Amino acid sequence: MKIFLIGFMGCGKTTIAKKLATRLAYQLVDLDLEIEKALGQSVASYFAEHGEAAFRKQESDLLKSFPYAAQAVIATGGGVPCFFDNMEWMNANGISVYIEMPPVALAKRLAGGKAKRPLIKDLDEAGLISFIEQKLQERAGFYERAQLKVNGINLTPEGLHTQLLTHVTV
Ligand code: S3P
Repeated sequence: MKIFLIGFMGCGKTTIAKKLATRLAYQLVDLDLEIEKALGQSVASYFAEHGEAAFRKQESDLLKSFPYAAQAVIATGGGVPCFFDNMEWMNANGISVYIEMPPVALAKRLAGGKAKRPLIKDLDEAGLISFIEQKLQERAGFYERAQLKVNGINLTPEGLHTQLLTHVTV
């Protein structure tokens, strides 16, 4: 089973992916990290040099071509579900889990991690909140196509595991 964790930047995909992969003894794949390895540069510098459209193509190609183990937990980048047929592909190739979190909580968690995220790196506090509110609204329709939706606040690997078991055998 491939478990794709999706959701907005800062919702905790990478952290919970690591813990869940350890708990299940599954392969851990951090797509942003794998893209950086494949591109030989950071997401931020690739964005700056080639623009977002080129990044989205690379991201989609890697999502679909990565040599996943049969059992894997995948932390995706926040934009992955919203481009091309990535959401359909994830749903056809595993289970997608939307880690939902309200904008204020996302903003708090993102305040210290802006530099590596090109979409928010130049925003001040007020700008960050309004960006999140707007982007989340735009993206909600994609995220909601996930097969499972969980609340990201206080989410534990045990809790996520239990919720997954109501949908699939892991
Ligand atoms: C993005 C999210 C980032 C990264 C890139 C774009 C987005 O990943 O892929 O900066 O469009 O939401 P995280 O969600 O892991 O921060």
